Amino acid sequence: MDGQSMKKKDIHQNEVLCEPFRIKVIEKIQLPNIDQRIKILQKAFYSAFYIDSKDVYIDMLTDSGTGAMSDEQWAALMKGDEAYVRSRNFLDFETSVQEVTTYPYIIPTHQGRAAENILMELLVNPGDHLISNTFFDTTRAHVQNQKAIPLDLIVDDLWDFKTPKPFKGNFDLAKLQAALERYHENVPFILITILNNLACSSPVSMANIRAVRELANKYNKLVFFDACRFAENAYFIKTREPGYQDKSIQDIAHEIFSYGDGCYMSAKKDAIVNIGGFIALKDETLARRCQELLVLYEGFPTYGGLARRDLGAIAVGLHEGLDEAYLKFRTGQVAYLAELLEQEGITVSKPAGGSGVFVDVSSIYPHLSEDKFPGIALACDVYIEGGIRIAAIPFHLNCVDPGSGDLVKRNFEFARFASPRRVYTQSHLDYVANAMRRVKANATKNKGYRLTYAPEVLEHFFAKFEPL
Ligand code: F0G
Repeated sequence: MDGQSMKKKDIHQNEVLCEPFRIKVIEKIQLPNIDQRIKILQKAFYSAFYIDSKDVYIDMLTDSGTGAMSDEQWAALMKGDEAYVRSRNFLDFETSVQEVTTYPYIIPTHQGRAAENILMELLVNPGDHLISNTFFDTTRAHVQNQKAIPLDLIVDDLWDFKTPKPFKGNFDLAKLQAALERYHENVPFILITILNNLACSSPVSMANIRAVRELANKYNKLVFFDACRFAENAYFIKTREPGYQDKSIQDIAHEIFSYGDGCYMSAKKDAIVNIGGFIALKDETLARRCQELLVLYEGFPTYGGLARRDLGAIAVGLHEGLDEAYLKFRTGQVAYLAELLEQEGITVSKPAGGSGVFVDVSSIYPHLSEDKFPGIALACDVYIEGGIRIAAIPFHLNCVDPGSGDLVKRNFEFARFASPRRVYTQSHLDYVANAMRRVKANATKNKGYRLTYAPEVLEHFFAKFEPL
């Protein structure tokens, strides 16, 4: 069956992609012509991070802060009570986060990494070992900033893109046991990332979360969640894990949070806002200490570096992010694009995850070795073909040997087609897949890239390249 007729069949069979909303505000996008795109890319040092937004037709760089807010969220913004202390919006925000997470102590921050900074400064000491299924890159950088060592204890299934496993974001419990046994004296807490964008946006199962909590209890360790995509994770538990089919997304989220001592969240993801975040905790003493640092770094505890109207938008967005019809549509869109790319002979992580499609770039550029940056090749080619911006991300992990607990370094390269929330339609996705067909057909012409500049920390954001 060719791609075109397959797509038609999908449209008939699959009500998932019918947007559960109407569009009443639009933003014009423009495709620069091919000569302009070539010049733009050259001027941008062949990096997606230097291209002006006006020069991008479809922007799939990130799902963070790029979503479309609803009429209810815009209405909340217009009703901003900009008082410094205990504004109406802060109280709505606090109630909403308490309802969704069940944690009593709520600390607003301007985004996720501000929350990471505060928690790490309070809880992490030089030489500590921080344990997670996987750390997002800013989280890892914050751990390293405290001179501590991040350990990524994810299951090996993650690296096997082709074999579908429902929960590739799970902790490898043997590795966790080995790491706790060896390093427990210097482990301040365990962080469960639900779900980590970089780990192919794969979810963590409830059974795994429960098992992590049990091991943490054995070693008397705190458990926190990096909860920025908790609703997508809860949706995958509902649809993939036996026993949860009849539960609501909110009930599943409550059960997840019941296994933790608190969480932090970049609200720019599952709360569908353009800026914002928070820390939510069970323990009052820790919350007070966070508030003290908040005043230093962010602002007073009733606004935390945000305009009060932004808190109002988060209060509404957190509940919208739990809506099952929306989650079905959103995860369905990602799965749809993954399927279209697969039909073009491109290897994608399976099953598709929450926030975007993850592509094994070697399936497009088998002739380019790692030092020729096949991920950058893809990001450049897809921009040239369609004005589409994606991210090529190197993922440097510290794994452990499940027998000895010794550190094992692992590098993982892929490209991410992130899906902003409620922004693009099915025809945008078809457009991306058509561009990718041309990219794949012409891939052998790409000779790869050379690095011309890279700083030491978070190098992929700032790196510059030139074609070989
Ligand atoms: N944790 C995870 C799992 C994330 O994906 C991100 C951000 C953060 C923490 C930090 O939150 O951006 O609000 O400071 N991820 C974005 C991305 C940037 O593109 O995946 P932030």
